[in-house]
Amino acid sequence: MTRLGVLLSGRGSNFQAIAESISAGRISAGIAVVIGNRADAPGLAAARERGLTTICPPSKGLDRETYDRQLIAALREHGVEWVVLAGYMRILSAEFIRAFPRRILNIHPSLLPAFPGLDAQHQAFDYGVKLSGCTVHFVDEHLDHGPIVTQAMVPVDPDDTADSLAARILAEEHRIYSESLRRLLTEDWRIDGRRVVFTP
Ligand code: GRF
Repeated sequence: MTRLGVLLSGRGSNFQAIAESISAGRISAGIAVVIGNRADAPGLAAARERGLTTICPPSKGLDRETYDRQLIAALREHGVEWVVLAGYMRILSAEFIRAFPRRILNIHPSLLPAFPGLDAQHQAFDYGVKLSGCTVHFVDEHLDHGPIVTQAMVPVDPDDTADSLAARILAEEHRIYSESLRRLLTEDWRIDGRRVVFTP
């Protein structure tokens, strides 16, 4: 069974959706450790309630490289093979990315490459797009940038607010993150340039 390491900073609803998919037998994997960079992250409390191992390494006064080395060590210690970013609000160092080549996933609440960065749903709403959505992608050294695994489209309704749109996007995030993991762990795939190709 594949050992996952989850990194989160906040609410942790994507983490919870993945944990549910695992419990329901939809993904054959186990969550070996959940790491948070904020001790008060609700996602960490939720992980503890599920009986999972949680860690919140101290970051005070540490530069990115030093902090990330602690993360790499903790993930290795727990035998983690795939790293799942679930609302993790820190940029990862190049060394971290090299430590888990093609084994780090992220979910972003826009149809990348549109609206990378913070508050993507609000950015899209304010821009006036008619179609929005979310993207599961591999993580590389650039922000919200690596090869795309899955995208889901969410139309913007005339009576939407940024918040109502974000809520519908979140429901799609929960669906495609688990589905992407399931496919990557069970199907054959390769990366051609930027293209993630699932092979029959
Ligand atoms: C999600 O919108 C995700 O796309 C983004 O951060 C948010 C995290 O939400 N990367 P949650 O903590 O999973 O509820």
